[in-house]
Amino acid sequence: MDRRRFLVTCGAATLAAACVRIPYVTGRVDGGKLLIARSEFAEKAGVLVEHAGFTFPLYVRHVQGDEFTAVLTRCTHRGCTVEPEDDGLVCPCHGSEFAFDGALRKGPAEQPLTRFAVMADAETVAIALGGPA
Ligand code: FES
Repeated sequence: MDRRRFLVTCGAATLAAACVRIPYVTGRVDGGKLLIARSEFAEKAGVLVEHAGFTFPLYVRHVQGDEFTAVLTRCTHRGCTVEPEDDGLVCPCHGSEFAFDGALRKGPAEQPLTRFAVMADAETVAIALGGPA
């Protein structure tokens, strides 16, 4: 039996109301970095990662090659959890929209999502926990 957890979002932003299943994955902390197995991205471009240091999960997305982005899923408007959809992250509370790299696309939020630097090699994706990218 598959015991993986998923966040399922059925965004209003998609005309067909298609649902997106985003897996939660477990990382391990090592030397100020949160490490995720690169194989977690074999089937999905983006995953949610929970970490005891954050109230909200991180959304980590594979862009191309060794390029990844990581953002905190806390909306910068009033603190709701933004949800990954097909083309970005959307806040269900008041409709702010963000690109996968956290850039603000549409308010009422006025600031981008908190971003983290990400380094990757063939085996591991490492998110710097020390601060925003
Ligand atoms: S809390 Fe996200 S748009 Fe208001």
